[in-house]
Amino acid sequence: MALVTWTDNLSVGVELIDNQHTVLFNTINELHDAMMKGQGRAKVGELLGMLLAYTRNHFSAEEALMEDAKYAGLATHRIEHCKLTKQVEWFVARHQQGDLTLSIELADFLSDWLKNHIQSVDQSYRPWLNKCGVY
Ligand SMILES: [Fe+2]
Ligand SMILES: [Fe+2]
Repeated sequence: MALVTWTDNLSVGVELIDNQHTVLFNTINELHDAMMKGQGRAKVGELLGMLLAYTRNHFSAEEALMEDAKYAGLATHRIEHCKLTKQVEWFVARHQQGDLTLSIELADFLSDWLKNHIQSVDQSYRPWLNKCGVY
């Protein structure tokens, strides 16, 4: 069963970003699945690496759009991205050190964080981007 489900109310009104958020959700679901099925450290490590790389790319893309739109909340938003990236890096490091206790904790953390971030922080840039013709 999927840990996180994409619903229309999560849309930020920008197609590129919605598509990236969907990929993030899918990666989190795959990661959760791999952990629940006990697919082993290598597979989990691979998915964590993918998640970290994709998270970084997504945040860069989002920040570039906010910068173009001269979004007033960019600095605060960047801080939130930085915090999430550090958390994912911390999970990756723990996994590399052989800590096997992070499965549920990690999946819950990520799904909550992504949903909350998307529903509150990401939603705030919507009018600024839309105003610049970015949908
Ligand atoms: Fe964001
Ligand atoms: Fe986002």
